[in-house]
Amino acid sequence: MTKDDSNKEIIFSDNTPETNFEPSEKLEFNFLRPKSFSDYIGQNKIIESLSIAVEASRKRDESLDHVLFYGPPGLGKTTLSYIISNQIESNFIHTSGPALEKPADAVGLLSNLSSKDVLFIDEIHRIPKTVEEYLYSAMEDFRVDFITGSGAFAKTINLRLESFTLVGSTTRPGLLSSPLRDRFGLSYHLDYYDENDLKDIILRSSRLLDLKIDENSSIEIAKRSRGTPRIANRLLRRVRDYVEVKNIKKINTKVINDSLEIEGVDNLGLDRLDREYLRIIAANYEGGPVGIDAISASLNEDQATLSDVVEPFLLKIGFIIRTSQGRKITKLAYKHLGI
Ligand code: ADE
Repeated sequence: MTKDDSNKEIIFSDNTPETNFEPSEKLEFNFLRPKSFSDYIGQNKIIESLSIAVEASRKRDESLDHVLFYGPPGLGKTTLSYIISNQIESNFIHTSGPALEKPADAVGLLSNLSSKDVLFIDEIHRIPKTVEEYLYSAMEDFRVDFITGSGAFAKTINLRLESFTLVGSTTRPGLLSSPLRDRFGLSYHLDYYDENDLKDIILRSSRLLDLKIDENSSIEIAKRSRGTPRIANRLLRRVRDYVEVKNIKKINTKVINDSLEIEGVDNLGLDRLDREYLRIIAANYEGGPVGIDAISASLNEDQATLSDVVEPFLLKIGFIIRTSQGRKITKLAYKHLGI
């Protein structure tokens, strides 16, 4: 099935139509996300490589090679997957590793795909091993072999699939098995955005949200966005709420500071959890080294949240280092905390 941009079909693996989104999610998914490569800001090398691959597959009238996106959350892995399906004018079928509990879930999904469809699997590192094995032949030869019945009635069914494109997304590429990783012909590491790209993303979103904001104020929000477009858009919406409620006519640095302080976001974009993470290491473990399990227990916070969300940015800005004995905080972090 082929759809044009304005009438894009997004199908969830449980067949939830897009119209079942909460209004706020709908706004985020439909409204602020870029829909084409030309709308996309940043990650230039990835965009260039993907545009060539998409264009080549279109010229040859073939399905696009399977694509893997990896990197910290909020950098555009889902958005890019959606853009791919838009550019090749195919359906976008959205599921996630944990949703594919049993082989039958995967076989059901795969057998319903049409030619060139994009099957997007978020958190692909969380697919159970028993399900993952079905993906190998599906990705390589567009077929799945499965057994029905048991004992004397067991029968192998060889099911041919349409030539689809699997787009996998993960924050933990190290957890993918090599047979799965090797089956992606295109593999991209998304990195943090620089301030200028974030500023442009904020200006674009402001235009779409009908919010007046100048370049300087956009830079101030960009500085607090931790290199992450999702955070930039979230902070922009908080500033927008604040100026609307307080009836403020012009956004400036003070307005941004005041509105984001309420959200617990400081001038570097660190939030309460980031600061608490640093404080715990400083106060309870003399600055480290300390293992993530101990930090997680002290903070009463999930380890995956710390290692996928909190630590990558603190590492990037040089506030922590990882040693073989564990995490240590740096002088920069002490200075920021005022200790
Ligand atoms: N909104 C979120 N991410 C974006 C990006 N990379 N380009 C444009 N708009 C965005």
